[in-house]
Amino acid sequence: MSLTRRAWMLGALCAAAPVRAQTRDPLADRFGGPFSLTAANGRRVTDAEFLGRFMLVYFGYTHCPDVCPVDLFTMGEALKLLGAQADRVQPLFITVDPERDKAELVGEYALSFHPRLIGLSGTNEEIEAAVRAYKVRRVKYTPANDPANYGVDHSSLTYLMGPDGKFRTLIPHNTSIERMADILRPYLERG
Ligand code: NI
Repeated sequence: MSLTRRAWMLGALCAAAPVRAQTRDPLADRFGGPFSLTAANGRRVTDAEFLGRFMLVYFGYTHCPDVCPVDLFTMGEALKLLGAQADRVQPLFITVDPERDKAELVGEYALSFHPRLIGLSGTNEEIEAAVRAYKVRRVKYTPANDPANYGVDHSSLTYLMGPDGKFRTLIPHNTSIERMADILRPYLERG
C-alpha cells in the first residue's frame, strides 16, 4: 500500500470516528424492557410511566440477609448525595420473591431506604418477565436444617436506564456511596 493511500485511509478513519461515536451503545438493548407490576395500594406500574426520566432498578427480596440491604442503602444514600440532580431519577426495587414479598410489604421495605424508592411485586409470571428482560439470575434454595426459610440467590446489580427507557450502565454490588454518585452524575448531566 502506498503512503498516500495509507494516509488517505487514515484520514477516512479519522473522519468516520465522530460518526461512529454517535452510533448507539451495543449494550443499549441488552438489559431492560417492558414490565407491568404492582406497587403498594395495588397501583399498577409499568416502565412507560417513567419515560422521560432515569430509572435506577434493583432486583432483590425483603428476606435477603445482607446483599439487598447494603445495595439499597447505597442507592438511597447516593441519591441523597446527588441532591436536586436525583430528582430526574426514579429508583425501583423489584422483588425476585413474589411468593412472600407482596406489594404492601415490598413497598414498605423500599421506603425504609429512600422516600421515593418504589417497591414492586406481581404475579410470578410478571416477575419472571421482568427478571428475564433485565437478565437477572434468581435461584431459590432451601436450607436443609430450616426448610421453611428458603432463600433466593440473585444477581446484585443496579441498572441505570435512560429517559428513553434504554440501558445506560450497571453498578456492581459493593460500590461505595460516593463512587455510585460519581458514576451517575455524568449521565444525569448529559440527560
Ligand atoms: Ni438480596
